[in-house]
Amino acid sequence: MTWSADFLSRNRAERVLLAEWTTFRLGGPAELVHLDARDDLAEALAQPRRWLGRGANLLVGDAGVGEPVLRLGRAFAALERAVTRDGRAIVRAGAAVDLAVLIRTCTEAGLAGPEGLSGVPATVGGALRMNAGTSTCWLLDWVARVEVVLPGETAPRWLERSEMPAAYRSSGLPEGTVFLGCELELAHDDPEHLRARGASLKRAKAASQPLALPSAGCVFKNPARDLPAGKLIDELGLKGTSIGGARVSPVHANFIVNDRGATTAEVCQLIQLVRRRAWDARGVVLDMEVETWNCPAELKAHPRDLKGVAA
Ligand code: EPU
Repeated sequence: MTWSADFLSRNRAERVLLAEWTTFRLGGPAELVHLDARDDLAEALAQPRRWLGRGANLLVGDAGVGEPVLRLGRAFAALERAVTRDGRAIVRAGAAVDLAVLIRTCTEAGLAGPEGLSGVPATVGGALRMNAGTSTCWLLDWVARVEVVLPGETAPRWLERSEMPAAYRSSGLPEGTVFLGCELELAHDDPEHLRARGASLKRAKAASQPLALPSAGCVFKNPARDLPAGKLIDELGLKGTSIGGARVSPVHANFIVNDRGATTAEVCQLIQLVRRRAWDARGVVLDMEVETWNCPAELKAHPRDLKGVAA
């Protein structure tokens, strides 16, 4: 991909293996561009591209991707307490800020809410885009406004939270929206209490999820509030099922772990096997929670149409 000399003097482009930039440790080659200068947003948006946050909810094909992969850098990494409005603190966070840093900063300042996402691996931008959360809260619960570039536009704009029909794992904004940052509106609470709550959430995750092995977190969305995908896959007896180096985690059935040098192709075959079983045995369509880049389109097809899946 060609960038102007001015662009390259302000932003770094390199060839990488995306396996080194995803928590799944999977994915082939791509051009990775660290977008450090806000003024260069328009040039970045002028061509086909993909956006990468912490790579924690992402499955990239073994062949990598042809489009440049953009990562928001310095100009989008500010984290500051702005003003106090009606007794609530306004915190401004750029999309490149690590969610863990935002949580820690708010907790230490005695600002309540974000500690509910303790242990969720993400950048602020990635977490906004997919409305990351736990079983008790979502990031967008605490957000008053977001700064975005909407698809087809090049200029950033601020949108009020009320303009975002957010839902479970969805910001409610159109596919292709780029998130540049947000303002959170937070009530005050005792930092010790917030710290204890965050620590307890992290402990619960560590006890129920395979955090020591590479994965992309939960693979599927929960089909319904009272039907967690993990419980369903567990009931189907699929824990421990493996294809090549990809395995349905024996710890939490909605995780696929890369425990023996898996390829993305193997992970995709295993996903298809699980989706097919859930459909055949229970009539449930498991939809992907994990974002996929350059993976077989069948992952998003109706499971009754899946072909060549070993039972
Ligand atoms: N369960 C099983 N077997 C399993 C896994 C779970 O029976 O192998 C049962 C659990 O015992 C529990 C129920 O299923 O009764 C729900 O399990 P859990 O509490 O682990 O929550 P979850 O719905 O599977 C959600 C999020 C997680 C988040 C946790 C904790 C989704 C898809 N997953 O998991 O998010 O960490 O709540 O808040 O919404 C992620 O998004 O990547 C992710 C891991």
